[in-house]
Amino acid sequence: MRAHIAMLPGDGIGPEVTREAVRVLRAVAKRFGHDLTFEHAAIGGEAIDTVGCPLPPDTLALCRRADAVLLGAVGGPQWDGAPPHLRPEQGLLGLRRELGLFANLRPVRLRPGLGARSPLRQDVVAGVDLVIVRELTGGIYFGARERGRDWASDQCRYTRSEIERVARIALDLARARSRRVASLDKANLLETSRLWRETVTQLHAAEYGDISLEHHLIDSAAMQVVTRPTAFDVILTENMFGDIISDEAAVLVGSLGLLGSACIGYSRPSLFEPIHGSAPSLAGRNVANPIGAVGSAALLLGEGLGLREEAIALEAAIDAVVAGGQLTPDCGGSASTEVVGGSIVEALRPAPSRPSAGARKRPRAEMPGAANRAETLQQPGA
Ligand SMILES: NC(=O)c1ccc[n+]([C@@H]2O[C@H](COP(=O)([O-])OP(=O)(O)OC[C@H]3O[C@@H](n4cnc5c(N)ncnc54)[C@H](O)[C@@H]3O)[C@@H](O)[C@H]2O)c1
Repeated sequence: MRAHIAMLPGDGIGPEVTREAVRVLRAVAKRFGHDLTFEHAAIGGEAIDTVGCPLPPDTLALCRRADAVLLGAVGGPQWDGAPPHLRPEQGLLGLRRELGLFANLRPVRLRPGLGARSPLRQDVVAGVDLVIVRELTGGIYFGARERGRDWASDQCRYTRSEIERVARIALDLARARSRRVASLDKANLLETSRLWRETVTQLHAAEYGDISLEHHLIDSAAMQVVTRPTAFDVILTENMFGDIISDEAAVLVGSLGLLGSACIGYSRPSLFEPIHGSAPSLAGRNVANPIGAVGSAALLLGEGLGLREEAIALEAAIDAVVAGGQLTPDCGGSASTEVVGGSIVEALRPAPSRPSAGARKRPRAEMPGAANRAETLQQPGA
């Protein structure tokens, strides 16, 4: 396969972790005989400093013609006092909006040997393997804002179609996993949450009778995510609740630096990015954990390009490196960003005695629809 990937390293540790992700993607391409090309562009603070806006038109044009987008992180204290339109995060929000990326998929899985890194008891986190499906372009983050001297207001608005399209992604995903969806809302208080619950319930009844659907209030769910995380499989929720609960779920598995995510819409390209920010205090020190970025690269292969076998091989290589104790300081190790990336590249080399990759290859899927998506996320560590 030939694919062109837009690379947006961004700020802080973004360039360091995405460099490792590209190294690893090149190794996957070599092993499986693909032709992946990469083209860099500026976003966030870097773009503000070089061309004066967080999402330059050239960057957006590159993303639109790419097969997939890989992003590092944006932001940093040097832009904190800037006016809203000159803040780095506007670059990322704008890109998601322009590309129509309305759903964020965030797999949260405890990698082998990392149980002791969780702030929770090992018996509570053992076996954690869930996916959060968060609505990404609606709700309070995109509503009208008003500010008076002594008051402020942020509007939260959802339409039935915005809810239905993201619910469909979660329900489809559940079909290839354990057929369970937990939908989180605040329907006891908020009108948007009542519409959310009503819409998800109606869609489920009409088309997804084979899936078990539970509704939880967000506050109770936030408690259950830390008291019995293995009770969840696919979690569906709106933008702000998803933002909060997905960071909460992320720390279950040891470090924010370990998790990747996919932002998807109806069509290509999708956007793949680690869930962490730019971690300014770690920038330039070769200590940042690259696994969130490399895990995002695995999602890019499976979800973005439909290369499921390649995604599974990369996930297995990450697991092998983690299980072997090659860890950055956030996970209790002393390996550098580069060493962890290099170890994953090494782990991707097929053992000489194995049958050739070509001989084991299954027919490749077309651009992933929901079913393909689900299949990749079903077997993250296979
Ligand atoms: N998607 C994004 O680009 C994104 C997301 C969140 C925050 N941000 C921005 O990043 C900046 C810093 O924000 P923050 O400190 O709240 O969040 P952060 O994710 O950058 O850092 C939170 C904590 O996690 C650690 N950490 C994060 N990534 C790590 C990694 N790969 N390896 C090891 N440790 C890691 C950091 O050192 C810090 O202790 C801010 O400007 C914020 O706006 C960007």
